[in-house]
Amino acid sequence: MALVLYGAVGLFIGMATAFGPVPRITWEHREIHLVHFQEPKTFNYSTLLLSEDKDILYVGAREVIFALNSLNISDKQQEVFWKVTEDKKTKCAEKGKSKQTECLNYVRVLQQLNDTFLYVCGTNAFQPVCDYLNLLSFEFGGKNEDGKGRCPFDPAQSYTSVMVDGELYTGTSYNFLGSEPIIFRNSQQSPLRTEYAIPWLNEPNFIFADVIRADPDNADEDDDKIYFFFTEVSVEYEFLGKLMIPRIARVCKRDQGGLRTLQKKWTSYLKARMLCSAPDKNLIFNIVNDVFILKSPSLRESVIYGVFSPQLNNVGLSAVCAYNISTVEDVFAKGKYMQSATVEQSHTKWVRYNGEIPRPRPGACMNKEARTDGYLSTLNLPDKTLQFVKDHPLMDDSVTPIGDRPKLVKRDVKYTQIVVDRVRALNGTVYDVMFISTDRGALHKAISYENGMHIIEEIQLFPNFEPVQTLLLSSKQGKQFLYAGSNAGVVQSPLAFCDKYSTCVDCVLARDPYCAWDAQESVCVDNFREHETERDWIQNIGGDASSCTDKVKEHSLQHTFKHGSTAELKCSQKSNLAQVVWKFKDDVLKVESPKYRLLEKALLIFNLSEGDSGVYQCLSEEKVKNQKFSQVLAKHVLELKKIQHTTVSPAQPTTWSESNGRASRKSMVFIQPHLSSTPVAAVTTPRIVTNPVIPILTSTVSDELLNSVAEVPARAMFLKSNDNCLLMFLFLFFFVLFLCLFSYNCYKGYLPDQCLKFRSALLLGKKKPKADFSDCEQSVKETLVEPGSLLTQSGEQPKPSHDTGYETEADYVNGHVQHDEDHSQSYKEVKDKPFDVKCELKFADSDAEGD
Ligand SMILES: *[C@@H]1O[C@H](CO)[C@@H](O)[C@H](O)[C@H]1NC(C)=O
Ligand SMILES: *[C@@H]1O[C@H](CO)[C@@H](O)[C@H](O)[C@H]1NC(C)=O
Repeated sequence: MALVLYGAVGLFIGMATAFGPVPRITWEHREIHLVHFQEPKTFNYSTLLLSEDKDILYVGAREVIFALNSLNISDKQQEVFWKVTEDKKTKCAEKGKSKQTECLNYVRVLQQLNDTFLYVCGTNAFQPVCDYLNLLSFEFGGKNEDGKGRCPFDPAQSYTSVMVDGELYTGTSYNFLGSEPIIFRNSQQSPLRTEYAIPWLNEPNFIFADVIRADPDNADEDDDKIYFFFTEVSVEYEFLGKLMIPRIARVCKRDQGGLRTLQKKWTSYLKARMLCSAPDKNLIFNIVNDVFILKSPSLRESVIYGVFSPQLNNVGLSAVCAYNISTVEDVFAKGKYMQSATVEQSHTKWVRYNGEIPRPRPGACMNKEARTDGYLSTLNLPDKTLQFVKDHPLMDDSVTPIGDRPKLVKRDVKYTQIVVDRVRALNGTVYDVMFISTDRGALHKAISYENGMHIIEEIQLFPNFEPVQTLLLSSKQGKQFLYAGSNAGVVQSPLAFCDKYSTCVDCVLARDPYCAWDAQESVCVDNFREHETERDWIQNIGGDASSCTDKVKEHSLQHTFKHGSTAELKCSQKSNLAQVVWKFKDDVLKVESPKYRLLEKALLIFNLSEGDSGVYQCLSEEKVKNQKFSQVLAKHVLELKKIQHTTVSPAQPTTWSESNGRASRKSMVFIQPHLSSTPVAAVTTPRIVTNPVIPILTSTVSDELLNSVAEVPARAMFLKSNDNCLLMFLFLFFFVLFLCLFSYNCYKGYLPDQCLKFRSALLLGKKKPKADFSDCEQSVKETLVEPGSLLTQSGEQPKPSHDTGYETEADYVNGHVQHDEDHSQSYKEVKDKPFDVKCELKFADSDAEGD
């Protein structure tokens, strides 16, 4: 209990520490080829079922069921509509439900009954029905069985189902209001359900159900077990408000209920808490969003994978925890039970039960031991055992995850679904590849490596960021796909995008167990699609690419440039884990210098001069476990274009604003990249960015020129027109300003003694202090003339303010400030226009700490 409470508090303080790995590659939706299926006016593609031997994907949507070619889901093979009758719709609307959304038929159960029939259930305007879908004719049998207990009434309510040997096991709600939760077996011989009691199910949100078959060779003759996963309101922890708890519950297939006690109820129903927490980070993940059970005949034991989130998830935290099925079985078979005790009057508290446990063990499956004890069926079980089960369905022990911590904790993402594939890498090592979908339509593909997680890639499955609601993985060798359903449609994705990696280093650094480098063909191959006997391929899940022998990129792009112009050298890097390094003449370029600017996909070099010509190389450096792998992504050769130019000063960059702004205007720039041959992959055509050409080559600026550039505001113009002139003007301006301020302060007597001495010296012989004022005023007037005359000289109108002679200090300062703004504005124009630099600020984790 302390852990939970502590953890709940931790939710508020521990967020800042958990980041999680960054996906190495991010595939935008347009970058990859995915197959889509969606029909106009059809929504809520919520239920998927794969028939591997027929290569068909069945899709249950709102009021319709489709059969699609599972190898290409855009190829629709069959469809059957399943609409609500008008009469039912009206009745539903009369009960206060929405006719347009709720009073429709949402397919919730889609299970393979046998070769020719699917068992299907739908909400049917709050009157759930089930039917048999004939796969040959693709028509309903028209049975319209009552779907109560198999399908929720309300499409918004949770549901789960699994078909085991022709019997449907469901977790859903049993009534119109959705207030009576139930775990139900729909069976002719022995339909069973849970007790309607809080200790059994307390406002559960059903997530997943699956069967784990008993090992047929096992001497125990154990039973097959059906596991249910849900989040429910805890009874065992006291908390302000409702504390949610993720649960795993199980029933046994041979259960037939009790004879008197627990008649037509589960006698094997037990549940336990699933623990998924990172105590070192103060994180408790107490909502389970989805579960996948990795089963494989080659597997010694099945592994349960779950995606979790905290109850108060305002920063979008998610975790993946994995559990050994043996851990789960141990909890149910050997763990302690919980018992409710009444403290005070009406208050019950759940505590560990330490008393005597009846025999046979309550909740145990019928196995060899039970049979040798004479219990051939649960109907024979003694009342004592049954009564105990009825009162103690909750285990005291929790199911702890493998490694006692999450496999993955990720910030700023809400995971919705998970499927896991077990893959044998080239060296024989087995990896569990996790495909985890998000509520933003993306998919993360991750493997656990040594003690950490590596997210190989992030794939944008749905272009409109639709939450992924179902994930399904096919297991057919050679044509494996992943299917995802959302409200808007279904998408089919390959499991890997190996052909996107063009070099060996890239292919190996991906650390994708599905991909390997074929050195002979120089391609990154999907090693489960290609069936080759000779496997002279390179793969290293640790990311050691040292056995790669990629040829150094010989091809380079030629550019010629004009003195003072700006070059943009393109280089794009896909890996989010790599760093781009630029080299100039084999030395690492100091891109921090104001001469350069490193953009996401390019390098800008400002104010080009002779010294800048040479070979530029763009390298990507990726560090994997203290080993650094670098590869040349692009090579550019810059060459000075030898034409006569009239600029006086060789560029001596002091600050970027000056040197670049000036240089670009002084030279006429028309640079064209030489494209002698096809560009190297991943490098787009280079572009030299030039400023708009304003050929101002001399120091004196003529009136015509000024007039010709009419759109430039007059005041900005003289800043641009000539730099020497401008500098001189600025100098004079400040000088005058200084003088003015000085004399004013001097006059006012604010300045120290020396000034006062000077002042009295000045005032010597004058009789009245009043003359003081006029004198000072005079000096102001005089100095003001100077900049005016300068302006006249350069063709600018004198400022009208000069005529007033009553310039105050405030006005003056004002004028100065405006001037400065103009300056910076024109600087900004210079900066923005030619390069179109867009600086994207990536969102940093700034909000988390506030919680
Ligand atoms: C069905 O899809 C629509 C359209 O995307 C969505 O607004 C609605 O919430 C969905 N309903 C359910 C029950 O999933
Ligand atoms: C889970 O099972 C694996 C292999 O069966 C074993 O190596 C591991 O120790 C188990 N972990 C736990 C927590 O029981």
